[in-house]
Amino acid sequence: MDEKQRPFIQLDNISHIFEDDGTHVLDNISLTICAGAFVTLVGSSGVGKSTLLRILGGLLLPTTGDVWLNGRSPLESHAPVGIVFQRDNLMPWRTAYENVRLPLELKGIKDAESDEKVRAMLDLVGLSGFEQNYPSQLSGGMAQRVAIARALVHRPTLLLLDEPFGALDALTRERMGQELLRIWQANPVTVFMVTHSIDEAVFLADDVLVMGSPDNNGHPATITHHIPIPLPRPRAFAVRQTTEFMRCETAVRDAIQNEG
Ligand SMILES: Nc1ncnc2c1ncn2[C@@H]1O[C@H](COP(=O)(O)OP(=O)(O)O)[C@@H](O)[C@H]1O
Ligand SMILES: [Mg+2]
Repeated sequence: MDEKQRPFIQLDNISHIFEDDGTHVLDNISLTICAGAFVTLVGSSGVGKSTLLRILGGLLLPTTGDVWLNGRSPLESHAPVGIVFQRDNLMPWRTAYENVRLPLELKGIKDAESDEKVRAMLDLVGLSGFEQNYPSQLSGGMAQRVAIARALVHRPTLLLLDEPFGALDALTRERMGQELLRIWQANPVTVFMVTHSIDEAVFLADDVLVMGSPDNNGHPATITHHIPIPLPRPRAFAVRQTTEFMRCETAVRDAIQNEG
């Protein structure tokens, strides 16, 4: 089977209720994502996007329903997962190099092997030469690149990104999107990314998922639309000026406005 057609993430009837306050956040979400795909998730604030991402990463167990990563539950699959949040969450007392090395230290990987991997990742994200900088000595975009390098250094099969560029200015954000595509193309990894930028969602993805509630009043939410983005790859900035790009953007915007 073509690798790109192989189901990698499978969600069967996922529902989630937060027990502390009884909020029914997610309802009956079923979804298949193929290996190596780049999928983006959009939806209004508070709808449940991060909740779904945490379930995918095995950080949260759904109240009901099954999650399969490569045919196994996230807890059993041992499929390495990399996660990047809006704030880079770097350790301020560690250099860029030491931050990226952390997941390898935790796995007990020896110095020589880890050194090669850390340097390769910093090079991949364009930060060779900044190994010894501390987070406070890096721009927001550079810090987020370190966070991406750290998430990728143990070669995850799944990369989860929760509004990773949300705290960056618009120009840096566009550049980071382009960089992320380059990194994804150089690495066989399935990407699931939450973003509130429609432009970013369309530019990056093979498929845009829209989360909303069928009756349009918040909870519980489900995936209301699944919009394929048939733009050719590799994608350059200029693809944004094509009518096809604008058509996709309009489709996503309409889907968010008419969630049901
Ligand atoms: N630990 C929690 N306990 C109770 N409610 C929560 C918890 N985490 C999130 N929620 C609620 O779940 C809903 C969805 O949150 P979230 O998934 O963070 O939304 P989004 O990422 O789309 O902005 C919100 O109403 C939020 O208040
Ligand atoms: Mg969120």
